[in-house]
Amino acid sequence: MKKITAIVLALSLLMMGAAFADTLTMGTNAAFPPYEYYEEGVIVGIDAEIAAAICEKLGYDLEIIDMDFGNLISSVASGKIDFAMAGMTKTPEREESVNFTVTYAIGVQSVIVPEGSAITTIDDLYAEGNTYMIGVQQGTTGDIYCTDDFGDDHVAKYLTGADAVAALVAGKIDCVIIDNNPAKAFVEANEGLTILDTDYSEEEYAIAIALDNTDLLNSINAALEELIAEGVVDEIIAKYIPVE
Ligand code: ARG
Repeated sequence: MKKITAIVLALSLLMMGAAFADTLTMGTNAAFPPYEYYEEGVIVGIDAEIAAAICEKLGYDLEIIDMDFGNLISSVASGKIDFAMAGMTKTPEREESVNFTVTYAIGVQSVIVPEGSAITTIDDLYAEGNTYMIGVQQGTTGDIYCTDDFGDDHVAKYLTGADAVAALVAGKIDCVIIDNNPAKAFVEANEGLTILDTDYSEEEYAIAIALDNTDLLNSINAALEELIAEGVVDEIIAKYIPVE
C-alpha cells in the first residue's frame, strides 16, 4: 500500500514536472492595445502573437499572466515568470536587472490631449509657471521621462494606461503621455481626444529575461530573429497596425 502510494506520488510529480517544463510563462500588463489587451476574456495583441510564435518554434506551451507593469522586471529577475513582453522599452536602468532580447518593434512617446486643448506642442508643457497635469502609466518610460522633465507636481501616475486615459476623458488631467500605438488605439476608442504632432522620445521594444537565464535568452533570440527574417513579426504587426 505504502509502496503504491509512493509510486503514484512519484509518477504525478514526474507528470507535473513535465507539464511545467513544457510551458513558458510570460508576464505582461494587458491594458496596452494593440500590444496586449483583452478580447472576450482572452489576452490578444502583437506581443501575445509573437510570443506564441516563439513558443511554437521552441516547442513550449505559452501561459500569459497579467500583472502590474511595475512588477514585471522584478518578477522576471526573481524567476516568478520566464519572460516579460509588454511593449517594454529597453533601458540601461532595466538592463541592470534583466537581459533584453533583440528589438522587435519601435515605440514613440506621444501626447494625447482633448480636442481644442491649450496644449498644442510639447513645448507648452515646459512653459514657465504652467499648471498642467500630465497622466502616465506608473513605472513606464513615459512616467520616468515626465517625472524627470516636469517634476512630480506635474505628473499623475495611474496603474494602467487605460486608467490614465479615463482620467483625461473625465477632465481630471490635461494630457496623457504614452507610447504612440496605444495612444492611437485609445484615441480611436474615446471621442474628443487627439494626438499632438510631436514625438517625445523614440524607444526600442524587447523581451526581458532573467540575467542568469542565458539559455532561454539565446533560444528566444534565435527564434525571434528567425521570425523577423521570415517576415512573421512584420505580418503580426501589420495585422494589428494597418499601414495608413
Ligand atoms: N514602452 C513603455 C515602457 O517600457 C510602456 C510600456 C507599457 N506596457 C504595458 N503593457 N502596459 O515603459
